[in-house]
Amino acid sequence: MLAVEQLTRRFGANVAVDNASFTVDRPMMIGVIGRSGAGKSTLLRMVNRLTDASAGRILFNGEDVLGYRGAAKRRWQSQCAMIFQQFNLVPRMDVVTNVLHGTLNRRSTAATLFNLWPEDDIHRAIEILDRLGIAEQAPKRAEALSGGQQQRVAIARALMQDPAMILADEPIASLDPMNAQVVMQALRRIHEEDGRMVIANLHTLDTARRYCDRVIGMRDGRIVFDGTPAQLTTGVARDIYGADASFSEAATSTEIGALERHPVHA
Ligand SMILES: Nc1ncnc2c1ncn2[C@@H]1O[C@H](COP(=O)(O)OP(=O)(O)O)[C@@H](O)[C@H]1O
Ligand SMILES: [Mg+2]
Repeated sequence: MLAVEQLTRRFGANVAVDNASFTVDRPMMIGVIGRSGAGKSTLLRMVNRLTDASAGRILFNGEDVLGYRGAAKRRWQSQCAMIFQQFNLVPRMDVVTNVLHGTLNRRSTAATLFNLWPEDDIHRAIEILDRLGIAEQAPKRAEALSGGQQQRVAIARALMQDPAMILADEPIASLDPMNAQVVMQALRRIHEEDGRMVIANLHTLDTARRYCDRVIGMRDGRIVFDGTPAQLTTGVARDIYGADASFSEAATSTEIGALERHPVHA
C-alpha cells in the first residue's frame, strides 16, 4: 500500500528526516514515537505533502505521491487526512460546519462563501458526529467544547473526506489522560471498523503500545526501531529516547495509573 523510500528532509544544515524507509502492506494502526525534534512531524507532513521532501520517494498503491501536482495533490491530501495536536478547528464556528469543512476540497468557492452545504453532506456530518458520540454538540460553537470533544470534531472532519489514511500528529498531547483515552479509542475503532490506516505521532510509549499494531521509533531523523509493541522492550525504548540507565517508562507515560504513581510536577 504505502512505501516510504529513503526519505530525507533537510532544513539548512539540519537533517530533520534522514533516509527513512518503511512499507505498510495492509491498513494498520502505526504509532511513531521519539523525543521532541526526532522528525516525527516532518515525516507525517511529507507523507501528506504539507512539506516537500529533499530526497527519496513515497509510493501509494504504486503511484509516486511526491510527483502529484494541482488537483492530483489535493486529491491525495484528502486521501490522507491530517489531525493536529491543537485540533485546528474554526473556534467561533459551529461544530457541524467545522465538520463540513472536510468536504472543502470538492466544493466551489461560491458555495463555501455562502455556506451552502448539500443536505446529504449535513446528514453525513451528523452521522459521523453521532458515531463519535458527540452528535448533540453539533449546533454548538467549537470553542465551547472540551479538548477531547474538539479533537473528535477534528476526527469527524477528517472522516468527511472518506480518507484511506488518517495521519495524526500528536493527537492527544494537549488532552488530559481521560480524554486522551477517548480519542485514541476513536482512532482505533475507525481503523478496525473502516479498515483505514492510521499513523499517529505519539510522544508517549504506553499509548503506542496499547493502541498500535506496529511502532516506528525515530531518533535524530532516523528510524531506529520498526516492530510490534511486544518487540519494544525497555532497552529498545531507551535507545529511541536516547536516555541513560535511569530511563523510566513512567516519564513518557500518559496513563492515568502511571501519573498517579508518579505525579508530574509542573
Ligand atoms: N519548518 C522548519 N524549519 C526549520 N527547521 C525545522 C522545521 N520543521 C522542523 N524543523 C527541525 O527539524 C527537526 C525535526 O522536527 P520535527 O519533525 O518537528 O520533530 P518532532 O515532530 O519529532 O518533534 C527539528 O530539529 C526541528 O527543529
Ligand atoms: Mg512534532
